[in-house]
Amino acid sequence: MMRLAERTSGVTPSAVREILKVAEQPEVRSFAGGLPAPELFPVDAIAQAHARVLVMNGPAALQYSTTEGYAPLREWIASHFADKGAPTTADDVLVTNGSQQGIDLVSRVLLDPGAVVVTENPTYLAALQVFQAAQAKVVAVDSDREGMQLEALAKVLATHDVRLIYLVPNFANPTGVTWTAPRRAGLIALAQAWKVPVLEDDPYGAIRFAGAPLPPLAAMDDAGLVISLGTFSKMLAPGLRIGWLRAPAAVRKHVVVAKQATDLHSSSLAQRAVVELLARFDLEAHLNRLRSVYRERCELMFEAVRAVFPPGTKCLKPDGGLFLWVELPNGVDTLSLLTTAVTQHRVAYVPGAPFFVDRVRSNTLRLNFSNCQPKDIVEGMASLSRVFGEALSAGASAGSPL
Ligand SMILES: Cc1ncc(COP(=O)(O)O)c(C=O)c1O
Repeated sequence: MMRLAERTSGVTPSAVREILKVAEQPEVRSFAGGLPAPELFPVDAIAQAHARVLVMNGPAALQYSTTEGYAPLREWIASHFADKGAPTTADDVLVTNGSQQGIDLVSRVLLDPGAVVVTENPTYLAALQVFQAAQAKVVAVDSDREGMQLEALAKVLATHDVRLIYLVPNFANPTGVTWTAPRRAGLIALAQAWKVPVLEDDPYGAIRFAGAPLPPLAAMDDAGLVISLGTFSKMLAPGLRIGWLRAPAAVRKHVVVAKQATDLHSSSLAQRAVVELLARFDLEAHLNRLRSVYRERCELMFEAVRAVFPPGTKCLKPDGGLFLWVELPNGVDTLSLLTTAVTQHRVAYVPGAPFFVDRVRSNTLRLNFSNCQPKDIVEGMASLSRVFGEALSAGASAGSPL
């Protein structure tokens, strides 16, 4: 038996993932994944961009390159931040393998075993996995419809030696919540008062289909405490694995070394292909198309949930992103109902429980609307309403407290 490192022991395989393997069968309507719509990937434009790079600069595109990333891509990313009110130069930016790698690199650089990380509750599962692997101690602060509850955060900051605050400011995974401007300002004030770094993970910001954009935390920080992550995964395609990190120099230089140790650099070919694509492709028109399709699917799902789910169900309509978060009446345990949903009703979702660090609300679930067709949304919500409706009436007839 091989002896495993201690840090592997905290990272447990998820029971939900096992059940959801069954949901990959074609006859199951799955709202479980977190996938963008594949039919909207700009496949031809990406193919042509790769071909042009290989024809014009093949050897350079296939050679090792710098850890920081391809300079023209870093310039594009810098101007993307500048456009949103966060003055940025290419030097402030590191290209990563998606924002997921950014979470990992930052946690390698900032977190010792036992270090306290504050997250929202619930929050992005794969960030929790990174913090577990770093042997950090996660302290979760509840969020409401406006973002994290700052009074609770203030208490945690006053009673713990917090080393990092992690958050998803726009259309969060899993809740769809967008932090309001006052919450953003309040968070920055607290972070500055306690001199705690903030990791702003914003993979969905470009997929806003309602409401007005809000400034990123990077634009509100004048103390060099905010580290921001972004990605082309939802704007173009996740398979490119190209994302970015913007960080103050003092942290960034260590992040560069951590990335060097991890993978030397992100794909030279993919970085150059993205730059080539951005030079000729109408990104704004593409984003507008994504926004309009996702808006339509989101509204259809939201209305279906409102129409057919059991009375007392709460659902937040997000201003963008990929997910609807649903809170069923008390007593419906979405985790224990998942097997029934998949095997008997041929419909899948992600139970809310795994996204919580503590104070689990077991009557919650996450539904993905980006990767499904309108007909499947309507029929899928009807199937789910039967799963949850039957559970409620079984609970009621057994006299269990609902
Ligand atoms: C909140 C959040 N952060 C990061 C990621 C990872 O994205 P990427 O493909 O850029 O690594 C996801 C993916 O779903 C996400 O939901």
